[in-house]
Amino acid sequence: MSSNQDKINELISFREQAKMGGGQKRIDSQHKKGKLTARERIEMLLDEGSFEEFDMFVKHRCTNFGIDKESYFGDGVVTGYGTIDGRLVYVFSQDFTVFGGSLSETFAAKICKVMDMAMKNGAPLIGINDSGGARIQEGVNSLSGYTEIFQRNILASGVIPQISAIFGPCAGGAVYSPALTDFIMMNQGTSYMFVTGPKVVKTVTGEEVNQEQLGGASVHAAKSGVAHFVVDNEEDGIKTLRKLLSYLPSNNLEEAPMMACNDAIDRLEDTLNEIIPDNPNKPYDVLEVIRAIVDNRDFFECQKLFAQNIVTGFARFNGQSVGIIANQPKYMAGVLDINASRKAARFVRFCDAFNIPIVTLVDVPGFLPGTGQEYGGIIIHGAKLLFAYGEATVPKVTVILRKAYGGAYCVMSSKHLRGDINYAWPTGEIAVMGPKGAIEVLSSKEIAAIEDDSKKAEFIAEKEADYRDKFANPYVAAQYGYIDDVIEPRNTRFRVIRALQSLSTKKLSNPAKKHSNIPL
Ligand code: HXC
Repeated sequence: MSSNQDKINELISFREQAKMGGGQKRIDSQHKKGKLTARERIEMLLDEGSFEEFDMFVKHRCTNFGIDKESYFGDGVVTGYGTIDGRLVYVFSQDFTVFGGSLSETFAAKICKVMDMAMKNGAPLIGINDSGGARIQEGVNSLSGYTEIFQRNILASGVIPQISAIFGPCAGGAVYSPALTDFIMMNQGTSYMFVTGPKVVKTVTGEEVNQEQLGGASVHAAKSGVAHFVVDNEEDGIKTLRKLLSYLPSNNLEEAPMMACNDAIDRLEDTLNEIIPDNPNKPYDVLEVIRAIVDNRDFFECQKLFAQNIVTGFARFNGQSVGIIANQPKYMAGVLDINASRKAARFVRFCDAFNIPIVTLVDVPGFLPGTGQEYGGIIIHGAKLLFAYGEATVPKVTVILRKAYGGAYCVMSSKHLRGDINYAWPTGEIAVMGPKGAIEVLSSKEIAAIEDDSKKAEFIAEKEADYRDKFANPYVAAQYGYIDDVIEPRNTRFRVIRALQSLSTKKLSNPAKKHSNIPL
């Protein structure tokens, strides 16, 4: 009969075995690829010593293809909870050293358990993905496991923040769990995401492409927009996850944590009085405006390389977390196109779901014209952004820096979409369209009737100047109360902080319904 001490020793030995995952050889191979192990990632992510593990002794129950001869404690995923900056979070971290991190029935059940716990306790869920996909030997039980996870992702959406880090392969239907979460991070060089891999692509379409070209981090950062953050190594990735979380509340019933602010709220930024070029067609970098007005010039940008004509990200004003959306005149003159609309709409909806006030900086010449955009459905995609802003009930503060033309004026958190406080700089230009387009429409017959080219140019210039005088300013809108005040650019930080403070008790709700029908 074994003594109590023997039993304790056995527990210690089982724990040691579980911590070794698929064994030292596979751990070494993971390290050789420049990857950390599932446990190392969790250790680095959570506050020191805070991790509490669940289901360390779970093993798979499959007998197909002789897999029953091989099993490991934990079955390829490490799950549990801990804290980040003292705040509760739930985590799962797929262990590539056990059957390539492939997903079995029991593996999925472990993930579902932490998802259910996260929902019950109103805490964020962070998933670290590094997996060969469905465990082939488990057949449909693996597919059912994935789908149980998807269902939980869907129900948790808008209730708790869900964040996915992709630190290895993520292929097949497995990509859909991350896709259902709020933010996706990818690591340059070691991670990829695709629905079908290069071999299937070659068989079905004949196209030759490698994993990196098909679904590497750069592709999803710049082309597809699937990845919100791309990092150069896992350590940076973990730091980024921790920082992201600092801007978010733990659930949809809470506010994001307030941080102590050591940046004066009435800091004047003289540079902003000069940032708008005298020539309205010249660009400037809206990131300079953002950095000049937020606490400590610290802006945490999301989807940095995708649809760069619009900027989205988090910052703080007097310690309060806000989401910032800004047209970027430096790229495509800040025009709204399909990708910019999708990017910003999703960000607005995230902020609204999680009680994060929205600050919008507007300098937009309109929606991008042309067949490319029309055939791609700019009408529907542009409507997403319109819908998102109109639906949002969080505090909305808007500053028109320069252009706010046409439909884009309406969309970008205008007064008419329940914008709470709408300011404009004196450089604001608010009109149905820019002077050039307007004169072409209004005076086309007169222009056509002038034969002499120089006289024609003179006539157009005169008409454009008239139009500019009348409309290329913020005062017509201010006269109607559509703009609450025209503010000096260097005061923007102070005015935005005051506006946000006044809105801290805002209460607004939408009519009761099952759910809205946003144009998808
Ligand atoms: C079972 C798997 C596995 C899987 C990998 N392994 N993928 N075991 N099911 N899906 C095992 C390998 O046998 C190997 O075991 C170990 O994990 C490491 O794999 P390697 O191939 O040696 O590693 P590497 O060379 O780095 O290649 C990684 C890989 C490759 C690119 C991920 O393993 C691969 O292509 N796997 C199959 C991917 C796939 O097609 N999955 C199904 C997708 S469909 P040993 O014992 O040698 O260490 C899908 C549907 C989901 O996922 C649908 C959800 C709705």
